[in-house]
Amino acid sequence: NWTNSAIIDEQVAAIREQVGDKRVLCALSGGVDSSVAAALVHRAVGDQLTCVFVDHGLLRAGEAEQVEKDYAQLTGIDVRAVDVSEQFLTALKGVTDPEEKRKIIGREFIRTFEAAAREIAEEQGIDFLVQGTLYPDVVESGGGTGTANIKSHHNVGGLPDDLQFALIEPLRTLFKDEVRAIGLELGLPEAMVWRHPFPGPGLGIRIVGEITRERLDLLKAADAIARAELTAAGLDRSVWQFPVVLLADVRSVGVQGDGRTYGHPIVLRPVSSEDAMTADWSRLPYELLAKISTRITNEVADVNRVVLDVTSKPPGTIEWE
Ligand code: XMP
Repeated sequence: NWTNSAIIDEQVAAIREQVGDKRVLCALSGGVDSSVAAALVHRAVGDQLTCVFVDHGLLRAGEAEQVEKDYAQLTGIDVRAVDVSEQFLTALKGVTDPEEKRKIIGREFIRTFEAAAREIAEEQGIDFLVQGTLYPDVVESGGGTGTANIKSHHNVGGLPDDLQFALIEPLRTLFKDEVRAIGLELGLPEAMVWRHPFPGPGLGIRIVGEITRERLDLLKAADAIARAELTAAGLDRSVWQFPVVLLADVRSVGVQGDGRTYGHPIVLRPVSSEDAMTADWSRLPYELLAKISTRITNEVADVNRVVLDVTSKPPGTIEWE
């Protein structure tokens, strides 16, 4: 596509001009924006770019592997993955309040990223930081350059004063659909480019109740089934987001095989939206819902009930926490 390759050429030239022979750092989240921004910078300055991927264990099944292995191999980018899932679980132990979860996840994220950034900066000297800021983010924050993404997605302040870098924001003039088109043009896989928006605190705010490894595994299994079936039905692009939520503190009676069960409910929350400010519940076909429900209750131990959230936003929010 001529327009997209022109945008890429223009950005590549601008990034080369800005960076020269200096070194660049980027935090990959697994989402579309940071993946495309990093790929674009890599096209421009190659191995002058180093990426950090903080694996907090709160992404969905397969997503960390997709960043660490598939994306890194495909692009050739030097991706340093830091596995801190144990540290996050310890910090989140006993916490049930949604805002408290957000605070802790944000704090642990920035701590981990800061430590990795410090190490890389000492090793090779870093001058620039890539941010996947989009045009709507720029407008929303009043047009100034910001430390936008890390801040807003993780609800924390940015890096400390002694660790400040100049920002590279190659997506600053673009809308989401343009970013997707550019991602495809750069050769990124469709599954990555078409990923639904996903909250920074991840599955941590999709477990109503305390977050434990067992509960995360259970939610990941249920979420993977819902996602796979939505995709198989060809409907993943007509749904804005599809949170799958575990009501970890609720139990209900069921019957499976020849026994009575006392398990947890899973909530399906497919929504359609333009900008996440308002949303409506998606009218997914009954056949698809039936299939998801049957598979989850058959395949995920301890889940004996699947319910559908039929609330619009407002009054409900998209996420349950
Ligand atoms: P709600 O639940 O408020 O969500 O309707 C609106 C949009 O924001 C996402 N969301 C978050 N994103 N950090 C994020 O980066 C958060 O703490 C957070 N909470 C909600 C949500 O997935 C939806 O796209």
